[in-house]
Amino acid sequence: MYGNPIEGGAPARPRKKVTAPGLRRRKGGERITMVTAYDFTMARLLDEAGVDALLVGDSLGMVVQGQSTTIPVTVDEICYHTRAVARGAEGAHVVADMPFMSFQVSAIQALENAGRLMKEGMAESVKLEGGEEVAEHVRRIVAAGIPVMGHVGLTPQSVHALGGFKVQGKADAAAAKLITDAQALADAGAYAIVLEAIPPDLAAIVTDAVAVPTIGIGAGPECDGQVLVCYDMFGMTRGRVPKFTKRFAEVGDSVIGAARDYVREVQAGTFPAAEHTYRPRTKKLVDAAE
Ligand code: KIV
Repeated sequence: MYGNPIEGGAPARPRKKVTAPGLRRRKGGERITMVTAYDFTMARLLDEAGVDALLVGDSLGMVVQGQSTTIPVTVDEICYHTRAVARGAEGAHVVADMPFMSFQVSAIQALENAGRLMKEGMAESVKLEGGEEVAEHVRRIVAAGIPVMGHVGLTPQSVHALGGFKVQGKADAAAAKLITDAQALADAGAYAIVLEAIPPDLAAIVTDAVAVPTIGIGAGPECDGQVLVCYDMFGMTRGRVPKFTKRFAEVGDSVIGAARDYVREVQAGTFPAAEHTYRPRTKKLVDAAE
């Protein structure tokens, strides 16, 4: 028995489920909020806060596993984390990221792995990185009844080809390609598109150019929604975070402070106190101990 938020009761106001078509209809309307989540407890908190969508991003390779890129993440790992998140997402829509080399090989490979994320991971839609070159894959997945979110701009799975985690679409040709890529994804049936690390004016042009919502991360305020990595936005990431991250809290400092208090109290013998301790089994045992 450990702290289980399920036993903590239902949230004050039960939420209606956010769906992919519902998000799609928000184009140009109420802004979409998406946050990454990798476990049940965080999912439950974000759901209770009213976040629209929880993205089980392959960023988990970096912020959960401590790797330097997202490249090593596997479909099995995304399935495992998505199942946990799905259990905590009463109202929020659950999006599972397709990791590196789980969809690039062929449309059939993409379809099979998207299917696994839905069946084994309990995802409600999938996200994949890339533009025109994956449009056919998106089409096949969508035709199978699986909603797809696209992702263009800085696509971290291509970090080595891009020469690092850098702002994309600065030159005219790159900007034009990005617009074409986003249109190809929308034409293929993507219900929303993440725009990562691109200049805000380009994000505004892409947002105007596609009929589906854009969800920005480091793409300025003109997108139809925003997404952030939970550990970054709650101030749990130590060291350097990207310029586009706003730390909405300093949970990392609170954790360190609380852990220091715990160490001090255990060493001083003041924890556990009487209120954290069960009653002795019998009076006789207490008497014997005294
Ligand atoms: O993996 C991830 O968390 C993402 C977001 C940063 C969009 O792709």
